Amino acid sequence: MEKVSKKVSKKIYIETLGCQMNKSDTERILGILSHYGYMPSVEDEADFFIVNTCSIRKLSEDKAYSKLGVWGKMKKKNPDIKIAIAGCVAQQEKEGLLKKFPYLDLVFGTHNIYELPELIKELETPAEDGSRKRICAIRDKAVPEKDFNIIRSHGVNAWLPIMEGCNNFCTYCIVPYTRGRERSRTIETILNEAKKIIKEGYKEITLLGQNVDSYGKDLDGKPTFAKLLAELDKLEGDFRIRFTTSYPTDITDEVIETVKNADKICECFHIPMQSGNDRVLKAMNRRYNRAQYSEIVNKIRTQIKDVTITSDFIAGFPSESEEEFQDTISAINELGLDYSNTAAYSPRPNTPAGKMVDKFIPNNIKKDRLARLNNTVKAASKKSNEASVGKIYEILVEKIKEEDSKNGLKRIAEGRSRNNKVVHFESKTAKVGDFINVKIKEALVWCLKGDEIPTQFKKDCTVIKAAKQ
Ligand code: SAH
Ligand code: SF4
Ligand code: F3S
Repeated sequence: MEKVSKKVSKKIYIETLGCQMNKSDTERILGILSHYGYMPSVEDEADFFIVNTCSIRKLSEDKAYSKLGVWGKMKKKNPDIKIAIAGCVAQQEKEGLLKKFPYLDLVFGTHNIYELPELIKELETPAEDGSRKRICAIRDKAVPEKDFNIIRSHGVNAWLPIMEGCNNFCTYCIVPYTRGRERSRTIETILNEAKKIIKEGYKEITLLGQNVDSYGKDLDGKPTFAKLLAELDKLEGDFRIRFTTSYPTDITDEVIETVKNADKICECFHIPMQSGNDRVLKAMNRRYNRAQYSEIVNKIRTQIKDVTITSDFIAGFPSESEEEFQDTISAINELGLDYSNTAAYSPRPNTPAGKMVDKFIPNNIKKDRLARLNNTVKAASKKSNEASVGKIYEILVEKIKEEDSKNGLKRIAEGRSRNNKVVHFESKTAKVGDFINVKIKEALVWCLKGDEIPTQFKKDCTVIKAAKQ
């Protein structure tokens, strides 16, 4: 591959905001730039700064701008540093950002990460008139991916995007405008990447997509998400598979059946409901009602033992009445959702809901609804955790820490069960990446505590099978 510069002294720092897809993009950006002499660095030592942005709410957008402000001040002292903005805000705001932030050198979007080599080359080549180059590179259609290294973050989990984009156009959401239409990677590309991940020693693969169930609809032969899951499950190795996000009514019986029967696919589904009220769901352009959502959840629960179902909810969607909001609260309780992400509605540019200005809910009411929603989620999480007490879970250890106790320092391992519960347990020997059998003894709001059982759960597949039946 052509090198832009042979100097190996360039240091890059990327601040990543937003969802797992952005984290995954950052790993790819680092990999691409490493081919051109840019090595990852801490913020204090970097000379090339990128903020990989999220646009889902105004607050996330503002976070990106405040980061740019910090770097802009640094640039006043050191004009040689380069500052770039990437991701969903870049895709949404385009060249306007160059005008708004005079110290910005480069704007690139979600569609042109694989164009970075050309962009960097252009940025590094001095202008004929000696002026500072400033580039805005935003595309409407994605540049096809190329085979670069990926500099993944450490830990037990590796992100693996399977599809990107969204065709759903929920009225509040900016994602279809920042990520474009649904595009799937081929089964072969995904399997090859998964094999590399396993070889590198990662113990968990999280499949990413705005709507994983739409996987394959745009590919030749239309391979289904269930087929992809089944193929991944066949790969050799000691690892787990997770996936996110599922669109309620797109989850097929075939997917449920595959998760049920597979050894490596974890028993959890993230299925955003957004609202528990049918009128609000319609106004949001979600293609299901409460009863249909509930049917899916019940189907999954009856088929898959000990499955965790998590969701997302928005409080204060334009026009939402107090009674309608109460339907969201009652849905969480009625459906026994294990955990939910919550947010107050935030108007986004160019979205249909963002134009319903006369129906906007005042901030104080949104805040109050969000607080009540959070209390409901907290209680639901505690209840769900309590149901785990007495059970034996296979924990994949993610961290080891030391904790003060009456008897001196205790060595505590932290990890996740297959059904995605955070579990802490004391262990003298557990290492990051180990699969350890733990009996749950105590439920806290957001995590569980347990005791290590000295058998190697993972090695005994009959235990996993038993847990699945
Ligand atoms: N594809 C997923 C959601 C991706 S966005 C799905 O279909 O559900 C992640 C979450 O952000 C959404 O589930 C929603 O709850 C929240 N969100 C999106 N737009 C928002 C907005 N304008 N204001 C507040 N929350 C929003
Ligand atoms: Fe946004 Fe809806 Fe697409 Fe999810 S399904 S990314 S909420 S438009
Ligand atoms: Fe945010 Fe873009 Fe992800 S808007 S949630 S970073 S797809």
